[in-house]
Amino acid sequence: MENIDYSKRSFNYYPTNAIVTSKCIDGKWSAPEVNTDFNLSLHCFAGIFHYAPSCFEGLKAYRGVDNRIRLFRPDENAKRMISSANYLDMPAPSVELFIEMCKMCVIANWEYIPPFDSAGSLYLRPILIGINPQLGIRSSDDVMLAVMASGVGTYSGAKILVPGTAVLSRNFDRAATFGSGGYKLGANYAQSLHAYNIAHNLGYRELLFLDTATHSHIEEFGSSNFFAIKNGCYITPDSTSVLPSITNKSLRTVAEELGLKVERRKIYVEELAEMEEVNSCGTAVVITPICSIDDKPGLESKEITRTYKFGDTVGTVSEKLYHRIVGIQKGMEEDTYGWCQFVEK
Ligand SMILES: Cc1ncc(COP(=O)(O)O)c(C=O)c1O
Repeated sequence: MENIDYSKRSFNYYPTNAIVTSKCIDGKWSAPEVNTDFNLSLHCFAGIFHYAPSCFEGLKAYRGVDNRIRLFRPDENAKRMISSANYLDMPAPSVELFIEMCKMCVIANWEYIPPFDSAGSLYLRPILIGINPQLGIRSSDDVMLAVMASGVGTYSGAKILVPGTAVLSRNFDRAATFGSGGYKLGANYAQSLHAYNIAHNLGYRELLFLDTATHSHIEEFGSSNFFAIKNGCYITPDSTSVLPSITNKSLRTVAEELGLKVERRKIYVEELAEMEEVNSCGTAVVITPICSIDDKPGLESKEITRTYKFGDTVGTVSEKLYHRIVGIQKGMEEDTYGWCQFVEK
């Protein structure tokens, strides 16, 4: 294992050894290849450069307490990539090919899997992009699946479970009501970057998007899902324009196991005042507590209409959820649901 201080790392690109690629040309997938060249050579008329036929995934390989390497629910990432590709009307890899390539990528970058006692993990980023030359506006016929890895620390570089601030996005939308927010498309992120930059430049850690039709209820953060705890309930938005987070899905199961009631429903902005604990959740952020959410007429505006506060330390329920999920991911707790898949060298 490389001698790397993962406590100094955040969620970023750090060099690794190799990537794994496969192409689907004329409906046939090629055998996956391990490449040490990180540059992809693509035709300049490839759809990806023009109309953004691009979807991606994010999952982590964890070094467990038993020193074994686990992937957390990679089948769910595979299924979500298939659903994103179907939405883009382009070829999708099988669940088996997706998982095989993720495992190959972990093996090729073995020495970059952080130690068990660090907050780090090997983040895998599979991308699926349209590669056939085209000019007309249409979906891609041929695609490339590339799986790359980076040995990352915590999302913001802060210590785990340290709360951060957020701001509501009232004048920038992320995903239209009948749009693509429920799929993991590159385009959804391009759409959020400008608003994100404003929020970050103002010192907020997170940006919380609202539904585009009415701007009255909560959708999700730009990087993650929203969940809150209130009166023994785990509450998270129910919306087709929110990304179906695998972490959130798993937390709902864990929450029920811990005796919480789970509610998936509309959450009106004003209800934030009644929430006891508020968090963002996702593969990259795991569970990151939110200590305050500012509501402003517009992101750039100096005026703050209202500030919702949730405490300067992680909530007790959220902390329990964190330890159960991370415990499963790192082999410290029984994997009751068979969520982890081992990677053997
Ligand atoms: C916009 C958005 N929502 C939610 C999530 C969380 O999804 P998952 O838990 O599957 O990582 C992510 C990615 O981490 C994301 O980018």
